[in-house]
Amino acid sequence: MSGKVGILGGTGPEGSGLAYRWARAGEEIVIGSRDGQRAEEMAAQLRARIGGSAKITGAENAAAAQCDVVVLTVPFAGCAALLKQLKSVWKPGTVVIDTTVPLAATVGGAATRMIGVWQGSAAEQTKELLPAGIGVAAAFQNLGAELLWKDEDVDCDILVCSDDEKAKQITSELAGKIPGARPLNGGKLENARIVESLTALLIGINMRYKVHSAGIRFTGLPVESPGRKS
Ligand SMILES: NC(=O)c1ccc[n+]([C@@H]2O[C@H](COP(=O)([O-])OP(=O)(O)OC[C@H]3O[C@@H](n4cnc5c(N)ncnc54)[C@H](OP(=O)(O)O)[C@@H]3O)[C@@H](O)[C@H]2O)c1
Repeated sequence: MSGKVGILGGTGPEGSGLAYRWARAGEEIVIGSRDGQRAEEMAAQLRARIGGSAKITGAENAAAAQCDVVVLTVPFAGCAALLKQLKSVWKPGTVVIDTTVPLAATVGGAATRMIGVWQGSAAEQTKELLPAGIGVAAAFQNLGAELLWKDEDVDCDILVCSDDEKAKQITSELAGKIPGARPLNGGKLENARIVESLTALLIGINMRYKVHSAGIRFTGLPVESPGRKS
């Protein structure tokens, strides 16, 4: 993919896990944080793990939001305030990928339940809070951070939901760069309502089976899974 990928909240397990996988695939990454120093520390940790070829730097979220593709990986409870704070920094043509899940845990409830979002989903709320001209896709909500931090294939389908063709295409391309992940066209952005809630189900399955690796695979499709062992 040409262009830089900025990851808002990239110091957390999900954002840094995605950064790890994409930097390993040769993408140029900017880890974003409320604290530029913390972002640079995470970038240094990832550079040390990947080696000299890794193109990862750290910056405050406002600088990371200047990238061509911006991935939102902060807890749902912090999303609206962060997007309002960044209102004046967006460049037209940016693609924003929302990974957030409005789990009840974000407001002190159970991780296996969702909270209601007025707009229908976290992703639709994000779209409402961004200026026109920014393409929004929802994806990666069902891909756990623990899997991203390992070196094995992830064995998971990535449903990409968007009303914007460019955002859908770029997000699918990035999903395909994670070995074992298969991007699937998830339809409109409003389908993020379904995909986000699957995460609450997956968390419950992880708890009942005492694992951190439950993911989703769809069968019967004529689409190969990149990197999947036969
Ligand atoms: N963890 C998973 O397995 C997983 C899987 C799929 C999707 N997700 C989604 O990915 C997102 C991140 O998950 P995570 O587990 O990495 O979360 P996290 O560790 O709780 O938060 C990620 C980062 O967000 C920043 N942050 C925290 N509170 C914030 C606030 N109120 N305002 C702005 N920034 C804030 C922090 O970075 P700074 O302090 O450096 O700013 C933190 O390191 C969540 O929305 C989650 O639903 C997670």
